Amino acid sequence: MTETTAPFEPQPLGDRYFQDPLRVFARMREQSPVTSVITPEGQRAWLITRYEDVRKALADPRLSKDWRKLRSPGFVPDPSVGFLMAHMLNADPPDHTRLRRLVQKAFTPGRVAALRPRIEAITASLLDAMAGGGSGGGGEAGDDARDGVVDLITAFAFPLPMTVICELLGIPDGDREEFKTWSQVILSSTATFDEYRAAGGAMYAYFTRLLADKRAAPADDLLSALITARDSGDSLDEPELLAMIFLLLVAGHETTVNLIATGTLALLTHPPELSRLRADPSLLPGAVEELLRYANPLNHATDRYAPEPIEVGGVMIPAGEPVLVVTSSANRDPARFPDPDRLDLGRDASGHVAFGHGIHYCVGAPLARLEGEIAFGALLARFPGLSLAVDPAALRWRPSSLIHGLQTLPVRLG
Ligand code: HEM
Repeated sequence: MTETTAPFEPQPLGDRYFQDPLRVFARMREQSPVTSVITPEGQRAWLITRYEDVRKALADPRLSKDWRKLRSPGFVPDPSVGFLMAHMLNADPPDHTRLRRLVQKAFTPGRVAALRPRIEAITASLLDAMAGGGSGGGGEAGDDARDGVVDLITAFAFPLPMTVICELLGIPDGDREEFKTWSQVILSSTATFDEYRAAGGAMYAYFTRLLADKRAAPADDLLSALITARDSGDSLDEPELLAMIFLLLVAGHETTVNLIATGTLALLTHPPELSRLRADPSLLPGAVEELLRYANPLNHATDRYAPEPIEVGGVMIPAGEPVLVVTSSANRDPARFPDPDRLDLGRDASGHVAFGHGIHYCVGAPLARLEGEIAFGALLARFPGLSLAVDPAALRWRPSSLIHGLQTLPVRLG
């Protein structure tokens, strides 16, 4: 294949991108499938948008995840934000292999299946609180609850995965709303560096306190197991331990909240598909796969870098520039999924890349799938008249390059 340079100057990704990223990617996929952009953070980056290129890039060992390889050897980031980066998603083998091994066994399909009764109970209590106008279960139905209108994110889509991951890790409830705020700042593309550092510092202080408490009173949870691994050998140093907690907590809820919320939006705006699922709940596991493909909780995978120049899809990407592998675009590539913009709960959506591909394939995929299945099943069964409470055009998306998620989802319970 002939190597070319990108056909146009880096395109800035602005507000239009946040509100409708798939439209921006569709144009790129057609006209310039490997292209240089200016991210909302003001950084130059390369976007890969076609399915075949995306799959190859995600499995390409020449694309590194370790940003430290690009910095001058003496570079030491501020500890209050440095710990946010020392996790497995920013590591290459052998560090990545070592870090991943420590948690992978907690997320095998068998271990996750054992969580089903507890996830069902959390789900039922959140739905009870919604039906009852918003008390208990960690959910708040919001001001409009008296009219049967609730923000589905506040009442259900956020507290469900957050409660599950906190219980798995052994994090006491009480601070979860604060954590949500910090996490949203850290993942926002419009927060200033000072805001980012303040949120990172607050999380650092919180995790440090949490670890001290856990060391004083270990329990049968993942956090205690990670502390034991750290304290009894050299498998995890202190920044890595803090980063692991950060990654599991953030990855454990920031994505699934969007599967549930954007997935529900997709169902409510496609009444025939919604009726189909209501009529035949055995479609649920396949429907979750299709909703992952269609709703795309993440716009793209996390940053990769080419330490050496690398050719992708006929385009030379220079050394050192961030590469964003656009999984949401791959999932809408007509070359892989026929009629890709159509929601079809009966289609075979296997091969979608919503959970990534290759060695960084999502550790939490079995948990996310189970949470999705339980959440959609219980929500639809509990509220047969569930409907959108606003015009879909009025919905606003979070200003994040990475996260594809609604700010709120007002629904009428019926
Ligand atoms: C619908 C929900 C979810 C989606 C769409 C999702 C998506 C992804 C994607 C695309 C990656 C790979 C990123 C890359 O290669 O740059 C990833 C990695 C990861 N995910 Fe998820 N995720 C979800 C839920 C979860 C949950 C519930 C957990 C639980 C702890 C989790 C933990 C992780 C971890 C630890 C990694 C890093 C794996 C590695 O670097 O080897 N995710 N996820």
